[in-house]
Amino acid sequence: MKNLLSLEKLPVADIEKILRDAAVLKRERTRVDRKPLAGQTWALLFSKSSTRTRVSFEVGIRELGGDAFFLNANDIQLGRGEPIKDTARVLGRMVHGAVIRTYAQNDIEEFAEFSKIPTINALTDDEHPCQILADIFTFKELRGPIAGKVVVFIGDGACNVPRSWIFAAAKLNFELRIAAPKKFQPSAQILKRAGGKIICTDNLEKAAQGADVLYTDVWVSMGKESEAAERMKVLAKYQINEKVIHLAKSGALVMHCLPAYRGKEIDEDVFEANAETIFTQAENRLHVQKSILNWAVS
Ligand code: CP
Ligand code: NVA
Repeated sequence: MKNLLSLEKLPVADIEKILRDAAVLKRERTRVDRKPLAGQTWALLFSKSSTRTRVSFEVGIRELGGDAFFLNANDIQLGRGEPIKDTARVLGRMVHGAVIRTYAQNDIEEFAEFSKIPTINALTDDEHPCQILADIFTFKELRGPIAGKVVVFIGDGACNVPRSWIFAAAKLNFELRIAAPKKFQPSAQILKRAGGKIICTDNLEKAAQGADVLYTDVWVSMGKESEAAERMKVLAKYQINEKVIHLAKSGALVMHCLPAYRGKEIDEDVFEANAETIFTQAENRLHVQKSILNWAVS
């Protein structure tokens, strides 16, 4: 039994296994003899909105032979102040695994410790490991190995998605450049913890030169809504548009974890021109998370 709480703590060998098995699960999606979750019931416990993560986990768990139910954290006693560790001990005696989307990273770590069942991070304020594993899977599928390549993240460089990219870069040996205003760059402490080749700059034009991937995420992450007006102003220049694409390598992938806000972090025409890549990225959440579930119960 294993937990996926962060990319920071996930060994390279496990990343490689998850990505390898995801390719098989994608190719052989209709095979009915792979049911590693047969007889199991999994809880999806979410404190924030979700389309892709919720649907891909619900479908994925069922395709692997298990059953899943969704709990909005506000609908259960957790929302009225019952401690995480008590919620975890109750669920741990009833269900076989948990997929959790919440705010504090510490809450998911506490849940895993007290529930003693496989626990998967479906996004916290700190990390979004399932997303970045699916993104790397998508890159490999479309362009081959990611080692030695240049991934450029543009926008809010201090949120969960770039942070998981930071930990992936050091482990998988690619260069990560983060183009963000100073205020939205990752902390020196995170960069030190990760190691690897990571460049942070507020110069978007310089960062985008020769990129293999241009990647972005929303300017206003869930939980940061009160900062929306300031973020719109400070991040206004950090958009993927035609001008930025011309600086990247020809054939560079444009990726977005979604949901996308056109005219903000990405230009409408650029989004639609790259929709095939972006929605393949979304679909791959399903295949990669099935692989994560299979890994977690083995
Ligand atoms: N990218 C992503 O995690 O999407 P959802 O918030 O819709 O799950
Ligand atoms: N950084 C975004 C990711 C959404 C999938 C957020 O946390 O809202």
